[in-house]
Amino acid sequence: MSERVNVAKTVSGDAYEIVIESDFEKLAEEISKLPVEGRKCLIVTDSNVGPLYLQEVTEKITPVFSEVYAMQIPAGEENKTLNTVRTVLVKLISSHFDRKDFIIALGGGVVGDLAGFASSVYLRGIKFIQVPTTLLSQTDSSIGGKTGVDFDAYKNMVGAFHQPSLVYMNMSVLKTLPGREFSSGMGEILKHGLIRDEEYYSWLVNNFNEITDREPEVLEHMIARSCEIKAAVVEEDPTEQGVRAVLNFGHTLGHAIEKYMNFSFTHGECVALGSIAAAWISYKRGNLSDMEFYEIRDMFVPFGLPITLPDDADVNKILEISKSDKKMDGKKVKFILLKKPGKAVIDTTVTDEEMLDALQNMIIKLD
Ligand SMILES: NC(=O)c1ccc[n+]([C@@H]2O[C@H](COP(=O)([O-])OP(=O)(O)OC[C@H]3O[C@@H](n4cnc5c(N)ncnc54)[C@H](O)[C@@H]3O)[C@@H](O)[C@H]2O)c1
Ligand SMILES: [Zn+2]
Repeated sequence: MSERVNVAKTVSGDAYEIVIESDFEKLAEEISKLPVEGRKCLIVTDSNVGPLYLQEVTEKITPVFSEVYAMQIPAGEENKTLNTVRTVLVKLISSHFDRKDFIIALGGGVVGDLAGFASSVYLRGIKFIQVPTTLLSQTDSSIGGKTGVDFDAYKNMVGAFHQPSLVYMNMSVLKTLPGREFSSGMGEILKHGLIRDEEYYSWLVNNFNEITDREPEVLEHMIARSCEIKAAVVEEDPTEQGVRAVLNFGHTLGHAIEKYMNFSFTHGECVALGSIAAAWISYKRGNLSDMEFYEIRDMFVPFGLPITLPDDADVNKILEISKSDKKMDGKKVKFILLKKPGKAVIDTTVTDEEMLDALQNMIIKLD
């Protein structure tokens, strides 16, 4: 099994390929198409992924680089910080990396965002390769060149656009991914269908058994389609001047929930909750029918995603946090609504009352 998606238009003008495979056998061959001769590389991975895959990846790529270094950062969103970036920079400096050397991000979105950011600032930018290992990073975060870290608990507050030279994914690593992390990836994947492709959304819904059973053929189709959607949107608008913002569907309130819950919910869980809130506002404005809204909400459940907020959640606080999120257009919140299932639109007229109503609607009081 093998698929390829090309990202032809990027900020820098350099195209890159997304290679979808079922093992690491072709990794060295794909990397050797890049200008790696005589170059060093640093593999950045985390404390969960390193013990599982670092040895194999190191063995595979040793023939194509002059030297291969590796470092493990502690796993978890709480480590996606400038302090951790500093440890990567120290390693690059002490190993005398120059501008033509490479970083390889081996891990989920945390490793990809962080190692990508380190490669964007080291010597004003060195090359990097994404080897994503979570469902979320294989279908979303490794594509499009957004890199960055959290700052004082503000999500992705410090970052840069920096395109990878190659994205190589081995789908079989998903076998070791914990169930909750698999579900987290489904938050972004359902988003891809909802914002861009109704047919794909229906296919996801109809295949939820095969998907949650992680059947290889079904996963391959799903990963490839999500990569195509993400690649198409970022090609249209690499630096988010306009249409790329539709990828933030579910993220305005989702990020606020993520921070409010102190990162105890996964990113995809918060995207699911944020998507339900955005779908509710779309429904209240007459864009979705009753049935469409309730189907969108309820179909997060079979994929292991939440559809309610804790019953003591402070919706005013969540709203307040969302206002300090950077997805603002001047003083207005840049909100993504659904015009219909499969079509998202950017809207700057969503009011505080609408957002509070949407959040309140996700609190089910059982007394
Ligand atoms: N740059 C972008 O465009 C973009 C898009 C979406 C999300 N993100 C960011 O991505 C991050 C979330 O990424 P994530 O969900 O991949 O989280 P993550 O990187 O924290 O990975 C989740 C967990 O799974 C572990 N893990 C990874 N691969 C594994 C494997 N194959 N087997 C076993 N365990 C494995 C990790 O160690 C971690 O504990 C967030 O910080 C989010 O802001 C970025
Ligand atoms: Zn996201």
